[in-house]
Amino acid sequence: MTVDIKHLGHSAFLITSNKKSILIDPFISGNPKSENINFDDYHITDIFVTHAHSDHIGDTIDLAKQTGAKVNAVFEVANYCAQKGVKTQGLNIGGKVNFPIGTCKFYQAAHSSSLPDGSYGGIAASLIFEISGKTIYHAGDTGLFSDLKMIGELHSIDLALLPVGGTFTMDVADARIAKLWLRAKKVFPMHYNTFDVINVNKEKLKDL
Ligand code: NI
Ligand code: MN
Repeated sequence: MTVDIKHLGHSAFLITSNKKSILIDPFISGNPKSENINFDDYHITDIFVTHAHSDHIGDTIDLAKQTGAKVNAVFEVANYCAQKGVKTQGLNIGGKVNFPIGTCKFYQAAHSSSLPDGSYGGIAASLIFEISGKTIYHAGDTGLFSDLKMIGELHSIDLALLPVGGTFTMDVADARIAKLWLRAKKVFPMHYNTFDVINVNKEKLKDL
C-alpha cells in the first residue's frame, strides 16, 4: 500500500494511505503561505498535534469539527481540545495510539508548549508514525538533543520531517546532525520561511 504525504506549509502534513488520511499540526488559516486544500476531499480520521503553540494547534478544533476526526495530543492539549467539544485521545511521552491506517508513538521534543489562552500545554512531543509499512518521524519543534540518537536506534526511519528555520527550533546545520543521529533514509525540511524570523536561504537547504 502506498503512502502519500503532502506538505501543507510550516509543520502541517496530510498523510494518506488506503483512502484514509491523517493531519499533523494543521496550521492553515493563520499561515500566509499555506497550501490551498479542500479537506472534504479526504477521509480524515485523526489529527495529531505535537504541541500547543498556535502555529501547530492551528485549525485543529475547526477541522476536527468539520471532519469528525479525533484529536491525538499530549494530555493537556487533548483536554483543551475536549473542552472545545471535539473527540480526543490524550497521551503522554511513551504512549502509543492506533488509528485506522497505522500507529503513532509519542516521544519528547526539546521545546516548550503553552496553549492559545496562555495555560500550560504539557510537554512538547515528536511523533513516530508507522503507516502501511513506512516509518515517518515528525520532529515537532525540537532543538537538537540526544534523544534523537535513541529514536534512531529504536526505529528504522524512512522519512524524517525536521524543522530547519532556527530561532525556535533546529537550524539547517543542526538538522544535518539530526539526520545522522536518526539514521533517516530521507529528510524533508519544515518550519521555515513562514515568517521572516525563520527564513532559510534555498542554497543552504541543499546542505540537507
Ligand atoms: Ni512551538
Ligand atoms: Mn512552531
